[in-house]
Amino acid sequence: MRVLLTGSAGFIGSHVAEELEGSGHQVRRLDARPDGAAPQTPAADVRDAEEVARRLRGVDAVCHQAAMVGLGVDVYDLPAYTSVNAHGTAVLLAEMARAGVGTLVLASSMVVYGEGAYACHRHGAVTPGPRTEEALRAGRYEPGCPECGRPLEPGVVGEDTAPGPRNVYADTKLAQEHLAASWARMTGGSVAALRYHNVYGPRMPRDTPYAGVAAIFRSRLMRGEAPQVFEDGGQRRDFVHVRDIARANVLALERLAIAAPRPGGLRAYNVASGEPRTIGDMAEALAGAFGGPGPVVTGGYRLGDVRHIVARPDRARRELGFTPSVPFADGMAEFAHAPALG
Ligand SMILES: NC(=O)c1ccc[n+]([C@@H]2O[C@H](COP(=O)([O-])OP(=O)(O)OC[C@H]3O[C@@H](n4cnc5c(N)ncnc54)[C@H](O)[C@@H]3O)[C@@H](O)[C@H]2O)c1
Ligand SMILES: [Zn+2]
Repeated sequence: MRVLLTGSAGFIGSHVAEELEGSGHQVRRLDARPDGAAPQTPAADVRDAEEVARRLRGVDAVCHQAAMVGLGVDVYDLPAYTSVNAHGTAVLLAEMARAGVGTLVLASSMVVYGEGAYACHRHGAVTPGPRTEEALRAGRYEPGCPECGRPLEPGVVGEDTAPGPRNVYADTKLAQEHLAASWARMTGGSVAALRYHNVYGPRMPRDTPYAGVAAIFRSRLMRGEAPQVFEDGGQRRDFVHVRDIARANVLALERLAIAAPRPGGLRAYNVASGEPRTIGDMAEALAGAFGGPGPVVTGGYRLGDVRHIVARPDRARRELGFTPSVPFADGMAEFAHAPALG
């Protein structure tokens, strides 16, 4: 299979490229920055319709990883996120339609859910609203029941959980899914939207305001500083290794390409390890593997963060044959000393 891979020079894209090639597929790359693994391929923007059309020629499927990532630092980020993530995806989809390419694997994210699944002892399954600055400042980190305000029991999100994006980045990841679903309806195309949980591993970008928490902790450790854990460290997440993410992409591409009849429409998949950890646990594991210093819990917070978000990768296992293979402790030990990107 010949695959156009956008974001090929990025953290996840670079692993997807290796996994595709390792599985005997051909990779055509597209990234806005130079790609160390393919210096002969010029940088190109996913919003450049002509260039996208050129690279789509003769391709069987698209794997769309290119995006502006992170939480969004402030309101002035709105245009950039929307332009790259929403408009960029729209350009890609229109050109896929023109080129007759009907198979797409989309890098989506667990951020589309917002807060995870919760239950109230009295009111059953509930959807808490965004946490207020006032609550976070006062150290009330757990979202309360929207009906009675009591503490909630966190649960596990399934793919049919209603979306509730909490920041600009999340808005645009959900927009990508919506655009891809519309494209599929209009063209008969098929999309697998892979909702990655917290991805970590070799080549994770260095510490920037847009980086994931594991990268931020590791950058501090490399400077000899303690990882600073926000809130009380009890936030639950699922840390999934980048090689597992890459494999999920290849499995999804292969499944869509060989499926007969073609599934049509968009199908979402949680891609997670299935072994949730707290941010505090992750900081401990990383600091331990690095050889210290140990984390400090600061009570700091970010307004767009959610408290808990965990999922089981059951649908991906059933329908794509995906099983996570990198155990948390091994993955963190490797990550502690792995090279970063850029
Ligand atoms: N890292 C995570 O934990 C995580 C979690 C969920 C979803 N995702 C998604 O995975 C995908 C890959 O993320 P990543 O962590 O590898 O980030 P990354 O920043 O390392 O990679 C993104 C790549 O996209 C490229 N890019 C950005 N704008 C572009 C444009 N206009 N045209 C062409 N290329 C452009 C960048 O140059 C970069 O190489 C993204 O879609 C992201 O939303 C990541
Ligand atoms: Zn209640």
